Amino acid sequence: MSLKKIVILFSGEGSNLENIIKKLHQKSVIVVAAITNNPQAKGIEKAKNLGVDVVVIDHKEFDSRESFDAKLVKTIQDFEVELTVLAGFMRILTPIFTDHIKAINIHPSLLPLFKGANALERSFASEMKVAGISVHEVITELDAGKIIMQKCFDKSNMDFDTFKKRIHECEHELFPNAVLEMLAAH
Ligand code: GRF
Repeated sequence: MSLKKIVILFSGEGSNLENIIKKLHQKSVIVVAAITNNPQAKGIEKAKNLGVDVVVIDHKEFDSRESFDAKLVKTIQDFEVELTVLAGFMRILTPIFTDHIKAINIHPSLLPLFKGANALERSFASEMKVAGISVHEVITELDAGKIIMQKCFDKSNMDFDTFKKRIHECEHELFPNAVLEMLAAH
């Protein structure tokens, strides 16, 4: 049976991108490409080193969110993937994207808490004793789609660096499983 195809979108460091490629590529899925809006993204090198093609679509070259999204949608559709995986993709998406692309996103908080920017910092600073991460379906409303998987941990007495490290460990453990669960369910 042939492996299902996915594409991964990213904007920066690319640790989740790298982790998914290492754990799933050519074993459980084919990562046909990694797409970034940021020509300086550190993840570009990581994907290339693991043999995955990178497509740069620089949002600064577009005069509106809609025209950027249209290019993104066309690029993804041309790859004929089953699922689009947002791994640290730092762009607000319009219905041009969300109406046409089945996508999941990882967010560094226990949604519906701490939606949007600086979620990690706000979650750390909160009075809550637990924190965590969520993988959810992408809809037009930011970080509001159906929750697919979550993982939480006790954050009491953690300093910020330990907290951040724990968030990334949880993301790296959970996200590949969420990708596989989504692919199996659809
Ligand atoms: C992750 O913390 C993710 O939850 C958020 O952006 C970060 C991306 O990190 N959406 P990386 O680029 O995968 O290292």
